[in-house]
Amino acid sequence: MFRTAFLDLPPLATAGGTVHLPGSKSISNRVLLLAALSQGTTTIHDLLDSDDTRVMLAGLQQLGCRIQPAAVTPGQPIAVTGIGGQLPAGTAATLFLGNAGTAMRPLTAALAVLGGNFEMTGVPRMHERPIGDLVDALRQLGCSIDYLGNPGFPPLQIGQPDFSQLSTQAIPVRGDVSSQFLTALLMALPLLATDRDITIEVVGELISKPYIHITLALLARFGIAVKNEDWQRFVIPAGSRYQSPGDIHVEADASSASYFIALGAIAANTAGHNGVKILGVGQDSIQGDIRFVEATRSMGAQVDSGPNWLQVSRGAWPLKAIDLDCNHIPDAAMTLAVMALYAEGTTRLTNIASWRVKETDRIAAMATELRKLGATVEEGADYICITPPAAAAAWKAGSIHTYDDHRVAMCFSLAAFNPAGLPVRIEDPQCVAKTFPDYFEALFSVCDTANARIPVICIDGTSGSGKGTIAAQVAEALGYHLLDSGALYRITGLVATRAGLALEAANAERIATLMAEQRLEFTADQRVLVNGEDVSLAIRSETAGMHASQVSAFPAVRAALVDMQHAFRALPGLVADGRDMGTEIFPDAPLKVYLTASVQCRAERRYKQLISKGLSANMDALFADLEARDARDTQRAAAPLKPAEDAMRLDNSCGTIDEAVQQVLNWWAQRQPFAQGATTPGASQ
Ligand code: DC
Repeated sequence: MFRTAFLDLPPLATAGGTVHLPGSKSISNRVLLLAALSQGTTTIHDLLDSDDTRVMLAGLQQLGCRIQPAAVTPGQPIAVTGIGGQLPAGTAATLFLGNAGTAMRPLTAALAVLGGNFEMTGVPRMHERPIGDLVDALRQLGCSIDYLGNPGFPPLQIGQPDFSQLSTQAIPVRGDVSSQFLTALLMALPLLATDRDITIEVVGELISKPYIHITLALLARFGIAVKNEDWQRFVIPAGSRYQSPGDIHVEADASSASYFIALGAIAANTAGHNGVKILGVGQDSIQGDIRFVEATRSMGAQVDSGPNWLQVSRGAWPLKAIDLDCNHIPDAAMTLAVMALYAEGTTRLTNIASWRVKETDRIAAMATELRKLGATVEEGADYICITPPAAAAAWKAGSIHTYDDHRVAMCFSLAAFNPAGLPVRIEDPQCVAKTFPDYFEALFSVCDTANARIPVICIDGTSGSGKGTIAAQVAEALGYHLLDSGALYRITGLVATRAGLALEAANAERIATLMAEQRLEFTADQRVLVNGEDVSLAIRSETAGMHASQVSAFPAVRAALVDMQHAFRALPGLVADGRDMGTEIFPDAPLKVYLTASVQCRAERRYKQLISKGLSANMDALFADLEARDARDTQRAAAPLKPAEDAMRLDNSCGTIDEAVQQVLNWWAQRQPFAQGATTPGASQ
């Protein structure tokens, strides 16, 4: 997940490959409960691992369900053995359900019907979320539920029900507060329908019908065929009994899929691929937002689908403008608004009044941000009309404000395919965490662009000038990858000496070949592994530095490391530190920094660094070593250390690391095309 103040997306060109989307939250928790109530074992694939599913799993375990493995393991299904519609007499438990409404409501209903002795609690916020309408409906049936805190809210105490007065009359439930109440009843009442029909009647307008549709579809998979009488009455037929379907796949969230469907429609195909394949959701999806596929087809997308997958590629290009009533796909329709930037003519999205009362006023937000990119936008109370920039030259580089709205952040990432080749800045990218924490990583994994468009910041300089620390912090502030090229030379020195090779020019070819055979890994927590062995500490010693300096003078060794270094240039960008990043490896880098510092300062800094790591150090020796390395690195014939002609010089003798980092970020900001006043990391700190 990107936790930076902003994320700059370089201009993107093509897309291709496969994305596996995470399971939907609301489907995950429904499936877990249904599996728990059923007879038999259900093997659940692609269950979402989130706070909400974790509390549900823990609760079900407390009730005696066998869950294997006990926690969600990536790539592995989870097997839930159900209770077969009844709990052992006298089952008692206190269930802590965090802030998971998708666990609290349905579990309350199911346990109130099953009976026992249960306390239902959650975090303080959960105790502010209403549950009174559901409790009222359950009490009318004969369930025993008491409020342990404020009436109408959890925590709750559930006891033994008395169904002796249960009549054949319909059970009323309000439909206009939360569709979760109806879902909870729909999942609990089949337990009571063994010998009679049970009818639920919705009072008031039923909101969020697509969610009820999901509940009904899942009930059917577990053997319960509810009769839906025009969304007003739901009849659970007598003789209903929960039966495990054996295997079940949790669909991915169809709204999350919309960004990748749009991506396939907008981007040219990456060579060797056949568009974008989306795993986790197919056209037979039970989610309403899947109808987004139809909308994209009418804009020109080429979409194929099968069970649990979609394959999307560019069809008509430019896209065709549409005029669409989007009431049935409110969330995914935001993605259409960005697709409209690539359409010929004006796209009109209507019946979207609900956008105004979502995470933010989405009509206003979309209009403002689309205009920043150069589009002409007309907005009304319940519609939006988008006309793309008239020509490539009319596009503008926008810094997209995201209003703490995950969907604004995700859909505007698609603007990076603009024909003007401009980058797009997404402010506060971590707002995507609400539904898709790794959205940008997933996007980058299926997008491509010319290497020259992936920005590189080079930070070259002498040993101990602080470039490693500065580079790491600049990379962190921008969300960029990091290349510590010195580590590659240090590893080379290490593997050569371990192999018993003298570090002499005569051995250069052998050392280069040996290095090419090693399996290197650079982990996210900045460890370096060689053939699985952690050498992070071994390559940091002064001797390792001296050996690195020796092998780095051999042209054969340098040549062997070039491709490895180029491979670090990946989306969204790279910060590379070393000696020849700006001169040899990335000569086209848009920012090159050349760091210097007096030998005295650097020796002192290195001394402190070594001591803090618990390594032994001697000032005089360090001073002499640094001078010797400087001399070798600057005087060697192959790629000697020297500032690139267009490098910015930064003397880091006296200043702090923070000042140097800020200076580099300022130089970087000055090179960006975004309008003044856009967020910079400095401004947010
Ligand atoms: O940055 P460092 O101290 O880890 O580098 C170790 C040695 O590797 C350095 O003395 C010279 C060499 N080196 C190089 O020649 N080219 C680079 N790009 C990086 C390091």
